[in-house]
Amino acid sequence: MKMKKVPYPTNKREWSPSLVPGPVVLISTYDSNRVPNIAPKSWLQMVSFDPPILMFSGTRENTTERNILRTRCFGVNFVNTALASGVFESIQWFGRERIQKVGLTLTAASEIEAPLVSESRANLECRLHSTCEVGSGFVIFGEICAASIWDEILAAEDEKRYELLDQVFFLEDGVFARMGKVLKARK
Ligand SMILES: Cc1cc2nc3c(=O)[nH]c(=O)nc-3n(C[C@H](O)[C@H](O)[C@H](O)COP(=O)(O)O)c2cc1C
Repeated sequence: MKMKKVPYPTNKREWSPSLVPGPVVLISTYDSNRVPNIAPKSWLQMVSFDPPILMFSGTRENTTERNILRTRCFGVNFVNTALASGVFESIQWFGRERIQKVGLTLTAASEIEAPLVSESRANLECRLHSTCEVGSGFVIFGEICAASIWDEILAAEDEKRYELLDQVFFLEDGVFARMGKVLKARK
């Protein structure tokens, strides 16, 4: 079958289907008075193996980014399908009200001054590495200094692990996907 290509918008907001789905996470932080905050993000990406560094693109004026600039650390809490709708709706509220309305429980991290979301099946603890302004984005780079995962995921067979992790990916406003069938590349 010969594929015919047609022009497509360069503006991500107009993409349907989305060409760059991103994992939905909650970035968890404290402010300087230890008031907790969580915010959904999906522009998240690994950037270095050694040391392990990831980045997410945010907005300089938002609470998350302001908190990280003050405390120099943040939690990354992966969102599963049971949490997804609440996470999408959560941005109508701010601060403590957001945490209460979504019904999430926060626990202390092991290495950093930031809370972690108990309901997430995996969490990362990050220390601020650097920041960078790129276009309209304010990019935060964080070094991963601790990680934890639900023990039942590791107890399962390889093929079942992604199913149990049940990660969610942002596609468009109000639209997400869960991890589909896991396939192995031909060796
Ligand atoms: C599923 C989802 C993904 C989002 N991803 C991002 C993102 O990657 N970067 C960003 O700056 N905002 C993103 N947002 C918007 C922020 O979560 C929103 O601006 C939020 O109010 C920021 O909260 P804060 O001020 O408490 O940090 C996303 C929202 C949703 C619902």
